[in-house]
Amino acid sequence: MASLCVIEGDGIGPEVIPAAVEVLRAVVPDLQIVHASAGWGTFLECGVSVPAETLAAVRGCGAALFGAVSSPSRKVAGYRSAILTLRQELGLYSNIRPVCSLPSVSPRQDVNLVIVRENTEGLYSGRESMQGDTAIAERVITRQASSRIALRAAEVLRLDGRRRVTIVHKANVLPVTDGLFRDAARQALETTRHPCEDWEIDELLVDNAAYQLAATPQNLDVIVTTNLFGDILSDEAAYWCGGMGLAPSLNWGEDLALAEPVHGSAPDISGKGIANPIASILSAALLVRYYWKMPAEAKRIEKAVTLALEWDIPRKNGRPAAALRTEEILAAVIRQLEYAS
Ligand code: IPM
Ligand code: MN
Repeated sequence: MASLCVIEGDGIGPEVIPAAVEVLRAVVPDLQIVHASAGWGTFLECGVSVPAETLAAVRGCGAALFGAVSSPSRKVAGYRSAILTLRQELGLYSNIRPVCSLPSVSPRQDVNLVIVRENTEGLYSGRESMQGDTAIAERVITRQASSRIALRAAEVLRLDGRRRVTIVHKANVLPVTDGLFRDAARQALETTRHPCEDWEIDELLVDNAAYQLAATPQNLDVIVTTNLFGDILSDEAAYWCGGMGLAPSLNWGEDLALAEPVHGSAPDISGKGIANPIASILSAALLVRYYWKMPAEAKRIEKAVTLALEWDIPRKNGRPAAALRTEEILAAVIRQLEYAS
């Protein structure tokens, strides 16, 4: 029996996450659901953004579905971003961010790539300080985390039947940190690749990778990269699936996984019932595929989303003519599950 910890979070989280839960309930039999809280609202209420009970609930379930959190952009004493805390505390060392073309909403129809982002270190080390008038951030890269993320990229490549892993770095300017990342990742990939497997390993400097993502995204397959580069490139890449409302992700550690739409809490539209739940629904599908290892069911959810976009979104000249409400999109996906297999 599958267990799921649901953390709606702030902003549009409480609007999009229940939609994804409803889709999961329709596809995963006997789903046990536990609710827990995290985020800015939780901080204001209890003084911590991720209470110990929330961490225990995720550990107890193994799988979690998380909405979004708001964060102040200035330091608030005692506050730490809920999602960064969850990633760190739960050892969710990889962040899987697929970008695939979707009918009617994507600007092109031939993109199918996945960014495998290191999720625990790099410029997210939390080590920032002032020395007089100089502000310093420490970018931490370890051999262990670099090898581990490369092996996760190989795992995703195998599970998806993909053909190439591209290591993205900036070793020309950061020869020590990104030199280590590049070498450790390459070594791990070369060691894990069995002689009878024929997938490729290559590399790109991050600036060039950003250009390739904009110019020829159809040529990219698996990208493995450090934390901040993966953060930036995944927002850029999300343009190709149709925007942030459609981009899913999975924070995935050893035995725990937390699915999370790439978008934020969108305070400008929260409470209006117009947030697009598709990123959350597709994130839930990643849990189904990679964590519960039910690829056929994951495909069924993705197919239902595709069919809903194809048939249920009013279009004009091939582009969406009007935005639908959250509940209308959910109803369309649920209806299309009937035809998706
Ligand atoms: C993401 C987000 C987070 C990050 C923020 C909210 C801390 O942008 O999941 O990509 O920078 O990792
Ligand atoms: Mn981001």
